[in-house]
Amino acid sequence: MRIPLIAGNWKMNKKPSEAKEFAEQLKEALGIKVNVEILICPPFTALSQVAWMLRDSNIKLGGQNMHWETKGAFTGEISGEFLVECGCQYVILGHSERRQYFGETDEVVNKKIVTALSLNLNPIFCIGESLAEREANQTFVVIKKQLDGGLINITNISNIVIAYEPVWAIGTGKTATPEQANEVHAFIRETITQKFGKDSANDLRILYGGSVTPENIDSLMLQDGIDGVLVGGASLKLESFLRIINFHTQ
Ligand code: PGA
Repeated sequence: MRIPLIAGNWKMNKKPSEAKEFAEQLKEALGIKVNVEILICPPFTALSQVAWMLRDSNIKLGGQNMHWETKGAFTGEISGEFLVECGCQYVILGHSERRQYFGETDEVVNKKIVTALSLNLNPIFCIGESLAEREANQTFVVIKKQLDGGLINITNISNIVIAYEPVWAIGTGKTATPEQANEVHAFIRETITQKFGKDSANDLRILYGGSVTPENIDSLMLQDGIDGVLVGGASLKLESFLRIINFHTQ
């Protein structure tokens, strides 16, 4: 049984004071929800305050990135150990913005996944094709390459969540149709079956991300291969994030 995961990726938004206020309002509005796992990923500078605010709730906390080393001379970087101590249970790795603007390769993402797992941080491993790749019918080739490269030396996938985020859908208002997303999710699950076996693939949660909104959440969550969503813009406003959390599947 795969419990749906609704994750908010705040990117470089919300100062610590704003993040704390949002977390408080979210906690109050939600109460304790049991049939869905809720995660927010604020900027590093807000983690401690948000963790404190969420201490008596079941809303989980995640980082948006980390270094593959746990300490040392890496000016400006953040260690997974710091995330753990700030109360994070998850970390987003390989987001397309990291790949696009900060040159992260499959190899780098793989090193980060290995380190995160060693620290008991659950990686949300992001993959997805660009518009040019989709138009050139390369979607499955790209997805397979990212999966192969990102999962080298990983023997157990049970603590990993995969997020399929087509680059052309992120922040653009163009969502993949539920059918387009489900088709890629099925391909990801098939690839994972071949690599890790059927049971691991059945238990794996695969999120969709890219312009998820209150308007399209219900139809996305109706798809049998979509186990949750990674939400950027629409997770920044309380009303829209709440509506996404309270998705309907009937
Ligand atoms: P978006 O971002 O919902 O604003 O498209 C999603 C993401 O980048 O994770």
